[in-house]
Amino acid sequence: MKILESKADAREMVRQWRSASQKIGLVPTMGYFHQGHLSLMEECKRHADRVIVSIFVNPTQFAPNEDLASYPRDLDRDKKLAETQGIDALFIPRDDQIYAPEHKTWVVVEDLSNGLCGKSRPTHFRGVATIVTKLFNIIQPDVAVFGQKDFQQLQIIRRMVRDLDLPIRILGCPIVREPDGLAMSSRNAYLTEEQRPSALCLYQALQLADRLVREEGVESCSQIQTRLRQKIESFPFTRIDYIFTGDPDTLKPLEQVERPLLVALAVFVGTTRLIDNILI
Ligand code: PAJ
Repeated sequence: MKILESKADAREMVRQWRSASQKIGLVPTMGYFHQGHLSLMEECKRHADRVIVSIFVNPTQFAPNEDLASYPRDLDRDKKLAETQGIDALFIPRDDQIYAPEHKTWVVVEDLSNGLCGKSRPTHFRGVATIVTKLFNIIQPDVAVFGQKDFQQLQIIRRMVRDLDLPIRILGCPIVREPDGLAMSSRNAYLTEEQRPSALCLYQALQLADRLVREEGVESCSQIQTRLRQKIESFPFTRIDYIFTGDPDTLKPLEQVERPLLVALAVFVGTTRLIDNILI
């Protein structure tokens, strides 16, 4: 497995693959791999001859008060996992490789970036869309793989690729969970032993939403929201950021249930902000 630390090395690697007519897949990540990341790599291998995984904790998607400095990192472990996974190359650029001084150009996907996580993280998706565009331009992959765990991010990237005519196929992968249902996330490492049981509130609330719609035939989204709020608040250490019930494509809230319905949550457990979602 090649370790590429500069844009020039990455471009050269990709140029060689392309001259051999190989199809190139990219999996963008911020590292600290878990099974969710590994499942994206597996999927990417099914659709490409060569797979390159990027690890870059992108500063522009963190607000000043967020966890950029403490974001978990373990490059040695990530390298071993990627190697075992049969990845062809890891692209691990340094910060100064990616953002030139006086970086002033942003990719903004309007509307889709404003609701859900965009409300409490107003510059987050601008940072995500910009770094993903930069990675797409450096690697020029044929396919790129993202997780449905970050549903809004996936929809924003799909829209960006469509709107900007980027010749890249975007694949979305299902959410990988711990045995008890907690969606895997690098940020789960922040949870204390005492807080960990409360992290289950997200999955259990989503399961409740599924039962309310499918089994009880509840049609009012505000009724669903009330029941989910009660459920989440019954767990200690929790503070709700949002409960979203709406259209998975437009990301607009709905008053009456229409299927498919996206139910998405962001909840602080202690100081750790967790997200999860379900399509019903
Ligand atoms: P990161 O949080 O490292 O996630 C990298 C990819 O893994 C994303 O596409 C995310 O949706 C997916 N992923 C995370 N947890 C998952 C899970 N439990 N099941 C399935 N997929 C999961 O998302 C980012 O990094 C960044 O915003 C990035 C796109 C790399 C841009 O900086």
